[in-house]
Amino acid sequence: MASPSQRDSTTTLLSPTPPSYRRRSSLRLLLTILAFSATLTLALLLCVFSFSSLIPSFARRSHSTLHRPTVILISSDGFRYGYQFKCPMPNIHRLISNGTEAVPGLIPVFPTLTFPNHYSIVTGLYPESHGIINNFFIDPVTGDAFTKRRHEARWWLGEPLWEIVSNQGFNAAAYFWAGSEVSKGSWHCPAEFCPKYDSSVPFEKRVDDVLSYFDLPIDEIPVFVALYFEEPDSKGHDFGPDHPEITKAVARIDSMLGRLIAGLERRGIFEDVTIILVGDHGMVGTCDQRIIFLDDLSPWIEIPEKWVQSYGPLLAIQPPVNISAAEVVAAMNQGLSSGKVDNGQHLSVYLKEDLPERLHYSSSYRIPPIVGLVDEGYKLVPKRPMSNICGGDHGYDNALLSMRSIFVAHGPQFERGRKVPPFENIQIYNLVTSILGLRGAPNNGSYTFPASILLSDT
Ligand SMILES: *[C@@H]1O[C@H](CO)[C@@H](O)[C@H](O)[C@H]1NC(C)=O
Ligand SMILES: *[C@@H]1O[C@H](CO)[C@@H](O)[C@H](O)[C@H]1NC(C)=O
Ligand SMILES: *[C@@H]1O[C@H](CO)[C@@H](O)[C@H](O)[C@H]1NC(C)=O
Ligand SMILES: [Zn+2]
Repeated sequence: MASPSQRDSTTTLLSPTPPSYRRRSSLRLLLTILAFSATLTLALLLCVFSFSSLIPSFARRSHSTLHRPTVILISSDGFRYGYQFKCPMPNIHRLISNGTEAVPGLIPVFPTLTFPNHYSIVTGLYPESHGIINNFFIDPVTGDAFTKRRHEARWWLGEPLWEIVSNQGFNAAAYFWAGSEVSKGSWHCPAEFCPKYDSSVPFEKRVDDVLSYFDLPIDEIPVFVALYFEEPDSKGHDFGPDHPEITKAVARIDSMLGRLIAGLERRGIFEDVTIILVGDHGMVGTCDQRIIFLDDLSPWIEIPEKWVQSYGPLLAIQPPVNISAAEVVAAMNQGLSSGKVDNGQHLSVYLKEDLPERLHYSSSYRIPPIVGLVDEGYKLVPKRPMSNICGGDHGYDNALLSMRSIFVAHGPQFERGRKVPPFENIQIYNLVTSILGLRGAPNNGSYTFPASILLSDT
C-alpha cells in the first residue's frame, strides 16, 4: 500500500519535475490514499459486521471468585500466525496486550494436520506416541481404518487433559475437541460437558454453552474446558491464506472471544479464568501449477493407489509385505531426481526410520514404512489431469513459518504484555496441569517449561 506514494515522493525528490507532472503525481497520491482508505473501510466493515453478533444472553450470577484455578483452552483451526494482524481484532489483542504471547507463534507437531495436532496439545505427546499419526491411516496389524469418526479408546493413546482432570475428581468439559468422545479412565464424555461433534452448531451457541458451565453450583464448574472452532481452516483451504474471506473468518473468531470475555465479565470471573487461545497449524497457498503427479514415476516404479494412505502434503505408502520398502524408496528417488518428473525435486521420499529426527515421526508401528515430504505450497496427486484449483493447505514440515499457529494466554498466572519465544505445542500439557495444580501423565513436554512462562505463586 505504501509503495506507490513512496515512489512518488522519491520522484519528487530526485528529479526536477514539471509542475503539471507534479499535479498529476499529487492527484495520483490522493487517489492512492482514497483507494487505501476505501480498502481499510471495507476491511473494517467486514470486521464490524461480525462484531455485531455480540448479544448478551445470560443473566448475571453472583460469585465473585472461583474456588480453583480454571482453564479454558480454545482452538481456532488453521489460525496461521500473523492472521491476528489482518484487521483490528480488539478481543484477541486485548488478550495479547494483557497476557502472554508466543512470538512468532506456536510450533505445531509433524504432520501439521488437525487431528495429530489437537491430540498433541491435550496429551503433550508427539503423534508417534499418542497414536493419531494422521487424519486417516490403516492399522497395519488389524487392517482397520482410522477416520475422524473413530472413538474407540484403542486408537487414542496417552492421557488427555480432560481425563487427568476427571481422574483427579474434578469436572472437565470438552466441546468438539478431537478425541473428546473417547472413553478413557473415568472420562466418558458426559453429555452435559461433552456434546457429540456436530459442525453445524453455531459458534455463538458453543460459546454460550461454555458460559453456562459457569452458572453451575461453584463446585460443579469444570476446571478445564476445551473449545473448538473449525475456522479459519476451512476458508483457508478454499481461498488460501491471503483472501478477504480469511479476514472475515478470523474477525468472526475474534468476535466469539469477545462474546466469551463479555460473558465471563458479566459473571465477574474474567480475571480469574485462564484463557489459552491456540491453533493447531498454519496455512499456505497452493496455486501456480505446483503439482507433482505420482503417476509420473511409473517408468521407475508403479505405485498402485491401494498402497497409498495419504498423498500430499504428507505422502504415506504401505507396500504389500512381499515388496521391499527400501527398493520402492530407491526407485522413487531415482525417478524424482532424474529431472524428468515435473516438480520431482519438491518431493523427498524416506523410509520412516530415515526421516529427520526432529520430526519425531518414526517410532509408531502405525506410521507406514514409506513417508514422503512435499515442499511448502506443493501438492501431490495420483495422476493427470488435475484441475488447478487455487486454495490453501497444511500438513507440511513443522519447521515452516507458514505452518505456525498462535499462542495467547491470559489469566492470573500469565504476565501482562509478555512475549515468549516460539515453542512446540506439546509443551501446553504441562503448562495446563501446572496451572490447575494437577499431576499429568508422562509426556514429551519439558517439566521446566511451565516455570519459564508462568508467574510464580508468590
Ligand atoms: C488490561 O488490564 C488492565 C488492568 O486490569 C485494564 O485496566 C486494561 O483496560 C486492560 N487492557 C485491555 C486492552 O483490556
Ligand atoms: C506379492 O504378493 C501378491 C499376492 O499376495 C502377488 O500378486 C504379487 O505378484 C507378489 N509380488 C511379488 C513381487 O512377489
Ligand atoms: C514421549 O513421551 C513418551 C511417554 O513418556 C515416551 O515413551 C517417548 O519416548 C517420548 N518421546 C520422545 C521423543 O522423547
Ligand atoms: Zn485443514
